[in-house]
Amino acid sequence: MRDGAAATGTRDGATAPGLGLREILDLDRAHVWHPYGPMPGRQEPLVVESAAGVRLSVAGVGELIDGMSSWWSAIHGYNHPVLNEAVRDQLDRMSHVMFGGLTHEPAVSLAKRLVDITPDGLEHVFLADSGSVSVEVAVKMCLQHWRSLGRPEKQRMLTWRGGYHGDTWQPMAVCDPQGGMHSLWQGLLPEQVFADLPPAGFDAYDEAYARHLHDLIGRHADELAGVIVEPVVQGAGGMRFHSPRYLRALREACDTHGVLLVFDEIATGFGRTGALFAADHAGVTPDVMCLGKSLTGGYLTMAATLCTARVADGIARGEVPVLAHGPTFMGNPLAAAVANASIDLLLGQDWATEVKRVETGLRAALAPAAELPGVQDVRILGALGVVQLDHQVDMEAATRAAVRAGVWVRPFRDLIYAMPPFVTGDDDIARIGRAVCAAAAASTAANRGEVRA
Ligand SMILES: Cc1ncc(COP(=O)(O)O)c(C=O)c1O
Repeated sequence: MRDGAAATGTRDGATAPGLGLREILDLDRAHVWHPYGPMPGRQEPLVVESAAGVRLSVAGVGELIDGMSSWWSAIHGYNHPVLNEAVRDQLDRMSHVMFGGLTHEPAVSLAKRLVDITPDGLEHVFLADSGSVSVEVAVKMCLQHWRSLGRPEKQRMLTWRGGYHGDTWQPMAVCDPQGGMHSLWQGLLPEQVFADLPPAGFDAYDEAYARHLHDLIGRHADELAGVIVEPVVQGAGGMRFHSPRYLRALREACDTHGVLLVFDEIATGFGRTGALFAADHAGVTPDVMCLGKSLTGGYLTMAATLCTARVADGIARGEVPVLAHGPTFMGNPLAAAVANASIDLLLGQDWATEVKRVETGLRAALAPAAELPGVQDVRILGALGVVQLDHQVDMEAATRAAVRAGVWVRPFRDLIYAMPPFVTGDDDIARIGRAVCAAAAASTAANRGEVRA
């Protein structure tokens, strides 16, 4: 690197110390890989200078209302005094120590909280450093459980189509094999068993589909270590909702056929769908549960894999009685401290009423979208509102329209959606709705080759 990250350079717009706006964008394009992005980048990203409450301060643009909670995570908004204080307080004690042979109060306290608030029966907690890693750990737990019990042939996972579980190897193998982002690796990834897409709709239930799940699990039981699903909402695989009753069907089928059940609640956990965990909609305890994203209120990267005593006991009986996984930053005290504060903040308020308020607001604000040309479906559940188009979103047109309306959203595929922080006020929710409608209209116009306003 010659052109100098340390350069103070010309300051052509940005107010942050160090690089100027143009330099940031040029260096970003030259050196920085963004999520799911090409190198060099093709679309110029917005440069965020700071964030507070539900607003992002964007260089050269001004304030944008955040419709994304930074991908499901910032449920309390940004720069929250309580969460800031938790990080500062922990920083003064220690930012990190290794977790092998050492432990500390923030991590132990967090594990206790998670055991207390997740469905009964989940007792043991593995603190991972990202959602994808927590899914790796979940799959490893399932395979090792059976291997330890003398059933090494039980080494496949079953899931339904349309899922998304992360970007590392095992998670990619249980993402949707066709529509998903990882179809490139078909043939290289472990070949898992896929059930049909769950029928759409939180309130719809199809007995025939429940039978399909049961039959498929039964047919493959001898080779299945576990079933893994995103409960109630399939997120990055398509923002689809399904009936919680299928979770009960899965629980029954797994119990009948001797297969472990994993819920990936990385996106749905901590209130987003209107229940504290999506599993609570069904009253089901999985054998393994993954949490992440809003675990730390969106402050720091941390995830958790919880399991029942049965799963842990199985592993302990093996020739190798340990779970061979140990990230360097496992149990990071800063992340654990802010996770504790975030959970206390959430549970210390009437979070369910707040999520309901956001849901009601989104329902009203997105209703006009259903009338727009190019819109196929509008669906809302908890603090999540989705507008599905009949075409691939024109990202540039949609994003520009939303930003012009003062809102940050990040559409993908045929979806424009909003999952605002739970603290978003009613006026801001209304504005998010208007921005999503504007984004949908702009995308449709671009798709049809019409001139945009
Ligand atoms: C359901 C689900 N599982 C796993 C992941 C992966 O988490 P991370 O991005 O923290 O690795 C995500 C991320 O979007 C997710 O939505």
